[in-house]
Amino acid sequence: MSKEINIGIIGYKFMGKAHSSAFTQLPIYFGEDMKVNKKIICGRNEDKVKRAASQFGWEEYATDYRELIKRDDINVIDVTTPSNYHKQIVMEAIDAGKNVFCEKPLALNVQDAREMHEAAAKKGIKHQIGFNYRFVPAIRLAKQLIDEGRLGKVYHFRARYLQDWATSPDFPLTWRFDKKVCGSGSSGDLGAHVIDLAHFLVGDLKVVTGINETFIKQRPIIEGEGGLSAKAEKGAPLGEVLIDDATIFCGQFECGALASFEMTRYAAGNKNGMGFEINGDKGSVKFFFERMNELMYCDYTQDGLTQGFTRIQTTDYMHSYAKYYYPAGHVIGYADTFTCEMYEFIKAIKENDQAAPGFEAGVKAAQVIDAVDLSIANRAWVNVAEV
Ligand SMILES: NC(=O)c1ccc[n+]([C@@H]2O[C@H](COP(=O)([O-])OP(=O)(O)OC[C@H]3O[C@@H](n4cnc5c(N)ncnc54)[C@H](O)[C@@H]3O)[C@@H](O)[C@H]2O)c1
Repeated sequence: MSKEINIGIIGYKFMGKAHSSAFTQLPIYFGEDMKVNKKIICGRNEDKVKRAASQFGWEEYATDYRELIKRDDINVIDVTTPSNYHKQIVMEAIDAGKNVFCEKPLALNVQDAREMHEAAAKKGIKHQIGFNYRFVPAIRLAKQLIDEGRLGKVYHFRARYLQDWATSPDFPLTWRFDKKVCGSGSSGDLGAHVIDLAHFLVGDLKVVTGINETFIKQRPIIEGEGGLSAKAEKGAPLGEVLIDDATIFCGQFECGALASFEMTRYAAGNKNGMGFEINGDKGSVKFFFERMNELMYCDYTQDGLTQGFTRIQTTDYMHSYAKYYYPAGHVIGYADTFTCEMYEFIKAIKENDQAAPGFEAGVKAAQVIDAVDLSIANRAWVNVAEV
């Protein structure tokens, strides 16, 4: 595994920081062979990107992403911009023959996501989407238990993704409320992750129907795009919110199991409350991200006397990725989900294997998000395969 990996990253804020940390941590946990070269970081504000380059350990910086794409020495482009730039940057990077990592959601709609996947497949580059929760050891254990038949026939998948940062009407009109920038609100931003987990754990969704609401219809305008801790000036003029603040939908998987999903940015007290429960005829699993090292598992084949949920701490050597980290019980955190996802991506490039989850997972998630939007617009059930 000796291929040199030279990375150009676009974006230096939330995800730019998480990915930069992952690239730095890779050889520390996964060994010398996983060393990558953090060549160049891009952002539009020169002072800020210069500071980020120095703070995160990138050799150079640029203010135009095309500078990264046209360089012959760069063989990986990592896209961490807001979603409206994903397609443009990814398509240009693919055209130049770069391997591409792109944050979720892959694109603003399923048509764009399909074009991106088709272009990547045709060019034969390695591609991966930022569904980092797939790399949580407890979620991988849930998958193992399902694949081994320990839950039996699956009846229910029940997911929620609850945050609270939009609860106050004073929270400004950042890019996450702008339909042109992100396509949808809670359904694409939060929903993409839990929809992907539904696909990963249970299988394809067949039909969906949903409801959504925009609770606060106008918010204070701010300069620039703003992040999750943005603040507006007192008395700032108000602008329209055109995306969904909260979405609830239900559906049925191809395998017959029923599904329910709730995504909101208005669940006071819930910071990153992503969780799910899966029930089968032989058992159940429950996961809650704010206790990400734990999986609750009920073996329903046990007699009633001892039956119940067991809290499994997924940090022992037999759990996914645990052997690369610390002795059992020394828990890992959010940043490690990115290190593990980048480990799989870089390994796939070095071993000439297809990375997973590739852009096809982004297409599938976009298809469900668009199907839910369509069901809401038409107040009807929508067959996902027809979207
Ligand atoms: N995997 C996850 O859990 C997760 C979490 C948060 C965000 N995301 C996704 O990551 C993406 C970025 O979100 P974020 O929270 O990091 O956003 P952010 O606002 O914190 O950062 C965006 C960065 O992109 C840069 N940027 C924007 N347009 C650019 C352009 N044209 N050229 C160069 N740089 C540009 C900005 O300067 C900034 O550095 C979104 O698609 C979001 O959905 C994923």
